[in-house]
Amino acid sequence: MTETYRWHWIGLTVLAAALAATPSIVPLLRPTPISVTKSHPTTGLLTGDNATPLVGTASCSARGCHGSIDPAPAPERCQQNEYATWSRDPHADAYRTLFSERSRQMNRLLGSDMLPHDDPRCLACHSNPRLNAMPAESSFVQREKLFGVGCESCHGSANSWLVPHTAPDWRQKKHAFAMPDLTDPVVAAKTCAGCHVGSPANSESTIPRDVNHDLIAAGHPRLAFEFGAYFANMPPHWRPRKHSDVQLWAVGQLVSAQSALDVLAHRARTGPWPELAEYDCFACHHSLASQDRDRRRGKPGTLPWGTWYFALARELGGDPQALDALEGQMHLPYPERGKVVELVKAARKGFNVGPFKDAAKAESLVRAHVVDRFKTGTLKLDPCWDSAEQMYLALAASSPGPAHRALAEHRAFAPGFMGPGVLFRPSTFFYKLQKVAK
Ligand code: HEC
Ligand code: HEC
Ligand code: HEC
Ligand code: HEC
Repeated sequence: MTETYRWHWIGLTVLAAALAATPSIVPLLRPTPISVTKSHPTTGLLTGDNATPLVGTASCSARGCHGSIDPAPAPERCQQNEYATWSRDPHADAYRTLFSERSRQMNRLLGSDMLPHDDPRCLACHSNPRLNAMPAESSFVQREKLFGVGCESCHGSANSWLVPHTAPDWRQKKHAFAMPDLTDPVVAAKTCAGCHVGSPANSESTIPRDVNHDLIAAGHPRLAFEFGAYFANMPPHWRPRKHSDVQLWAVGQLVSAQSALDVLAHRARTGPWPELAEYDCFACHHSLASQDRDRRRGKPGTLPWGTWYFALARELGGDPQALDALEGQMHLPYPERGKVVELVKAARKGFNVGPFKDAAKAESLVRAHVVDRFKTGTLKLDPCWDSAEQMYLALAASSPGPAHRALAEHRAFAPGFMGPGVLFRPSTFFYKLQKVAK
């Protein structure tokens, strides 16, 4: 590299970094922000026959609204730089991901004649799911897609509250408008789970959101959602709030299990069947040397069901009998679709999130039903990687400490292999975890 060229290169790198880091440039890379006016032709905010359910991320990103570069010095209601923070969030890249070679290969392997960025199946999670209900060719849909998982994907359609929510007395009037309160962990967890666990077609998405074994085998990451960890990994565009880690963990477990049941009912109704993503991946995908050395639930040869989302559901408000009945059906070599739908209904009814809405109550319930029982060895856990990982996360949320991190290597996957290493043995792992917990 010549000296001049090197300087050129450094200059370019610095410029690229500045471009990436400076929120003021971000709008150049994305559609230009537009001011909030009721009649602006490119926002979705229209009335009458042209009414669209969305306003659009561009409307939120104006400088005077949520598109400020720096946080407001004394924020009364919000910091106003939420758009800048969100643009560094993985959700801002969710649509761009669909242009990657990996995404394209997925669609080829799935035998789809669509490109992933045009495929409603992918767009249902990689952009605002509500766009699926709107004409794909509309200029609003074309623009909003570019934002990936934009503001209204989580905050709900702003159509009913866009204008009122700027009023000084908004807090008092808030309850009259359908803006979800995402500071409530239950509401937030449900919102995330719609994409991170999946959902049948519902009021948010006319298209079912489902990463099943077909998608996974074609190259999609397995969705193994844990609300506490994912929430902590999202760059916070909100003012610091004191959430209890244990409560976030417990609420996440309950809400994810409920969402997983909804997805199961959808799969049993219309999906490929039996759906392999419902079972412990490593029951099939393991090195031959590490085959089933620990006893599992069900008869030998049974595929363990629901090892991730239901590892601790019985301890956290799930109805044990209803879940056992469903599990029994799922453990049959060919579960009956109709029966599964019925049993899901019963299991779904059994869940009670109520007690976990209070942080102090949630903490004492988790201590009594999960942590203390684990310490004394009275908690029954399916011996597999999924429940080991879930138990690890439970302890990490309830008593964070460096000791837990030391166990990381035991959970690690062998290089080049997509399952836990030969040395991973659930019973040994639980034993070590118990020693750390005490
Ligand atoms: C149910 C919602 C859902 C659907 C449907 C979905 N995805 Fe995803 N996708 C996700 C989530 C959530 C992640 C992030 C996974 C994680 O890290 O936990 C992701 C991650 C990915 C990644 C990896 C991105 C990275 O940075 O490593 C690719 C590639 C991808 N999706 C492509 C697709 C394609 C192509 C389709 C359609 C065939 C699709 N997705 C359908 C939710 C979905
Ligand atoms: C992936 C989901 C998600 C997306 C996308 C998202 N938000 Fe949020 N937002 C949240 C959650 C969750 C909270 C509440 C967190 C808390 O307080 O515990 C929040 C809080 C807020 C708050 C309150 C801030 C405060 O200080 O009280 C504002 C304002 C906000 N978001 C604006 C936006 C804007 C503008 C966008 C788009 C540029 C956006 N959000 C995109 C999930 C999201
Ligand atoms: C509309 C669908 C949708 C919603 C709602 C949503 N996400 Fe996501 N999320 C995605 C997709 C898609 C990705 C993958 C983005 C990519 O890499 O392309 C993702 C990625 C992430 C990642 C990065 C994962 C990784 O492996 O790096 C985190 C963390 C995350 N989401 C947290 C949350 C939280 C917390 C919530 C709820 C407050 C939430 N998400 C709500 C679709 C969604
Ligand atoms: C009942 C056994 C079974 C279960 C359970 C199962 N799979 Fe598979 N999986 C298979 C088989 C068989 C194939 C090969 C399918 C083919 O080539 O058509 C496969 C293929 C794959 C592939 C593609 C591998 C490649 O080299 O092409 C991935 C990735 C994958 N599975 C991941 C998972 C994950 C993640 C889970 C859990 C959510 C899971 N599987 C659950 C049996 C299973």
